[in-house]
Amino acid sequence: MEKIYRAIYPMRILLITSRSGEADNIMAAAWCFPLSRDPALFGVSLTDSRHSYSLIKEGGCFGINLVAPDMENAALLCGTKSGRDVDKFAESGLTKEEGDEIDCALVGESPVSIECRLADIVKTGDHYLMVGEAVNVKKRRESKGLYQKEGRDWIEV
Ligand SMILES: Cc1cc2nc3c(=O)[nH]c(=O)nc-3n(C[C@H](O)[C@H](O)[C@H](O)COP(=O)(O)O)c2cc1C
Repeated sequence: MEKIYRAIYPMRILLITSRSGEADNIMAAAWCFPLSRDPALFGVSLTDSRHSYSLIKEGGCFGINLVAPDMENAALLCGTKSGRDVDKFAESGLTKEEGDEIDCALVGESPVSIECRLADIVKTGDHYLMVGEAVNVKKRRESKGLYQKEGRDWIEV
């Protein structure tokens, strides 16, 4: 089956942070976008095979963390290994920073982090749209972003 979704690529690469109990996790996501201005809603589309899916569902919140070009190796790790098997904060060297408004870790190196409270989960075909209400935004630095063209072909814009 042709990957029709590729027609709208490149898509921005983001790091989604999640927490349930003692477990903190980070995954890379390119299917993440604004859904509503007021209330400020964002959607991230995940398959339920992702460890992040369970953590977001259990923890009730998630962080959306922008990826700067100097975070490429960490983003690759977060997009290819599962938090079921490895502690991706430890392995990537990314800094764990606490959210101000949510009980969830954020990525300290990210130019911008958005703190979201889980508002809804909508089954969309073979994915689940995790709808989050943005309750805080942390802006740390100006930076270009990383965009996925195809597989490992990433560009900075
Ligand atoms: C650039 C990139 C973008 C990705 N985008 C998504 C996405 O939007 N949704 C998704 O479910 N998986 C996406 N993935 C795959 C997950 O990041 C990957 O399966 C990850 O290992 C899941 O981690 P977890 O099991 O710890 O949640 C992407 C991977 C990469 C490298």
